[in-house]
Amino acid sequence: MTPEQHELYENARKRVRQKRRLYIHFVVFVVGSGFLFVIDRILKVGDNFLQDWFIYASLLWFFFWVLHFINVFITKRFMGKDWERKQTEKLVLKQEKSIEKIKKRLEKESQFIAESQFQKELKRKTISKPKQTVTIIAAIANDNALGKDNKLIWHLSADLKRFKATTTGHHIIMGRNTFESIGRPLPNRTTIIITRNPTFKADGCIVVNSIEEALDASKEDATPFIIGGAQIYKQMINSVDKLDITEVHHSFEADAFFPTIDKTIWKETSRQNFNADEKNQYNYSFVTYEKR
Ligand SMILES: NC(=O)c1ccc[n+]([C@@H]2O[C@H](COP(=O)([O-])OP(=O)(O)OC[C@H]3O[C@@H](n4cnc5c(N)ncnc54)[C@H](OP(=O)(O)O)[C@@H]3O)[C@@H](O)[C@H]2O)c1
Repeated sequence: MTPEQHELYENARKRVRQKRRLYIHFVVFVVGSGFLFVIDRILKVGDNFLQDWFIYASLLWFFFWVLHFINVFITKRFMGKDWERKQTEKLVLKQEKSIEKIKKRLEKESQFIAESQFQKELKRKTISKPKQTVTIIAAIANDNALGKDNKLIWHLSADLKRFKATTTGHHIIMGRNTFESIGRPLPNRTTIIITRNPTFKADGCIVVNSIEEALDASKEDATPFIIGGAQIYKQMINSVDKLDITEVHHSFEADAFFPTIDKTIWKETSRQNFNADEKNQYNYSFVTYEKR
């Protein structure tokens, strides 16, 4: 039994004893008053001394009994000041415990809220990070011709200028053949070469063994460019976000071709047409396609 339970038990016993004594007192009072009535009225004791003295005696006794009653049911009911103080202390202790519990719960909740706000913020930042736009850049002649004998077939100054202006400062991803056709890493760009050859090396370039690795190597760049050739264009055309095409309006003999642009996937969003001039031998157009 805990000390608290013991105390409650003792209090209950005390109350029972008090009530029992009051009850006995009441019984004794009733019997005593009856006795006084008998000796007064039947035995006529004390008539010459004080008329109806038993009534006064009974009343006095009743008065004492009422005092006893008050003591048991009103005064003692609250078990005195000491009892009250103890009850208050217990109550305060109980309140303190529940306050402590509430505090702990609030701490947990605020920690949870802080964590979920952090998660939300992280998610918001992740979502709001600008999406990478992977772009294919290519010059295509009639019949999708790209090149022959691992070389470009034409020289178009406006296209080279456009290529330089567009790709400078960015990652350029190319197949091993195209790299060998160019022969060196292009200045002010990060050159990524894709090859299946695990021992292939090229100074100043990043060499990777798959398209996935190439994209991974350029993931910090918001707009990396896929610059060819035919094999790489074919594998990537429908997974990139944009096509920047220079159409060269002329027919050439070729052995490397650009894949067909599927117009159900790609939508032409801009076109600029140019006529041949002293620096550009053929009519040409700059065309942009974006995913539908
Ligand atoms: N008109 C234009 O805008 C333009 C632009 C670029 C190029 N071109 C022309 O295109 C021609 C070159 O194109 P191409 O198709 O012959 O060669 P490419 O696409 O430049 O390179 C092909 C090589 O890339 C590697 N490769 C391809 N897919 C791969 C993969 N999934 N994983 C790992 N490595 C992979 C292989 O290298 P390994 O053999 O080393 O394994 C493969 O032989 C040339 O004539 C060039 O002048 C034209």
